[in-house]
Amino acid sequence: MNLKSKFVPAILAAALSLGAAHAQQPIPIKFSHVVAENTPKGKGALKFKELAEQKTGGRVKVDVYPNSSLYKDREEMEALQIGSVHMLAPSVSKFGPLGVRQFEVFDLPYMFPDKATLYSVMDGPIGQGLLKMLEAKGIVGLAYWDNGFKQMSANKPLRSVESFSGLKMRIQSSKVLEGQMKQLGAIPQSMAFSEVYTALQQGVVDGTENPWSNMYTQKMHEVQKHATVSDHGLVAYAVIVNKKWWDGLPPDIHKALQAAMAEATKYERDIAQKENDDAFEKIKAAKTTEIYVLPAAERLVWQKAMLPLHQQYEGVVGKDTIQAIYKTAQDVAKARK
Ligand code: LMR
Repeated sequence: MNLKSKFVPAILAAALSLGAAHAQQPIPIKFSHVVAENTPKGKGALKFKELAEQKTGGRVKVDVYPNSSLYKDREEMEALQIGSVHMLAPSVSKFGPLGVRQFEVFDLPYMFPDKATLYSVMDGPIGQGLLKMLEAKGIVGLAYWDNGFKQMSANKPLRSVESFSGLKMRIQSSKVLEGQMKQLGAIPQSMAFSEVYTALQQGVVDGTENPWSNMYTQKMHEVQKHATVSDHGLVAYAVIVNKKWWDGLPPDIHKALQAAMAEATKYERDIAQKENDDAFEKIKAAKTTEIYVLPAAERLVWQKAMLPLHQQYEGVVGKDTIQAIYKTAQDVAKARK
C-alpha cells in the first residue's frame, strides 16, 4: 500500500469529525437591548435565552447584550436590519425613524386604561397588524412585552399642567410624545435612553417620563428632585428579529424559538407590574425624590389637556385604530362587570 493511501482514512476521519463538529456548533443568536438586566425586559430576555437553549436542546446559543452594551437606541435598529444583531426588543415609541409611525398609537396619553386593554390590543388584530407592517422593513415581530405605566419626573414639582411650562423634557423618538410634551407647554428633547442620566445630571434636560423600573435602574431618581405618579402613558416593547435570518432557520428551530418566545412573553408580562412596584418602593426608600401622587381631580385636568392629541394624531396612527382601542377598552370594562 503506498504511503499516500495510508493517510487517506486519517484525512477522511479528520474531515468528517471537523464536519460533525461544525454541524454541532450552536446557532448564535445576538439579542441586544438598552435597559438594565434587573428590569422586566432585561429579565424577559434572559428567560428567553434559558428557554430557547433548553427547547432546542442546545442547538442555539443566545447572547444577551443589556444596557446599550452592544448598541444604543438608533444604532440597534440599523444593526438589526443589516443582520449584525439578530434580536431586539425596542420600545414601540422608536419605530417612527424606521417609517412605521403607526406604533405611536401606544404613545397617546391616557389611551390604555388598564393592562387588560393593552394586552388585548397587542395580541389582537391591531397589534398583530402593526407587527406585519415591519416585514416590509426586513423585520419580523414575534411578540409584545410590557413595562407598565410612565410617571413624570423633573427638578421642580409637577403638580399642574402649568408646571411643565418651559421645561426641557426628554422623550423617545416619537412624534406623538413630542406632541404630548408641547401640549403640556414643555420643550421635548428626543435622545437615546443611554444618554438620559447624564443629560439630567448636567441639566441638559430638566425632566423626563419613565416607568419606575427604568427610573430606578438607571439611577435617574438620584438626579430628579420630584416625580409625579401620573400613569399618563406606557412603555411597551415589540420583540423583533432580522427577517432574512429568521426565515432561514430550520423549521424545528423556528418552532422551538416560537414556543420559547410565548413562554418568555407570559413570564415578562407576569413580572412587569411587580418589578415596577418594587422599583417605586426603592425610590421612595432612597429619599432622593419627592413623590407627588396626582389627585383624581387633577388627573382629569391632565387627561383633558392631553385628549386633543388623540384627534391631532389620527392622521399618523389611524382614526379607525383609535376608535377600535376605545371599543376594546369598553368591552374589557363591560366584561369585568
Ligand atoms: C426609553 O428610551 O425611555 C425606553 O424605551 C427604554 C426602554 O427600552 O425601556
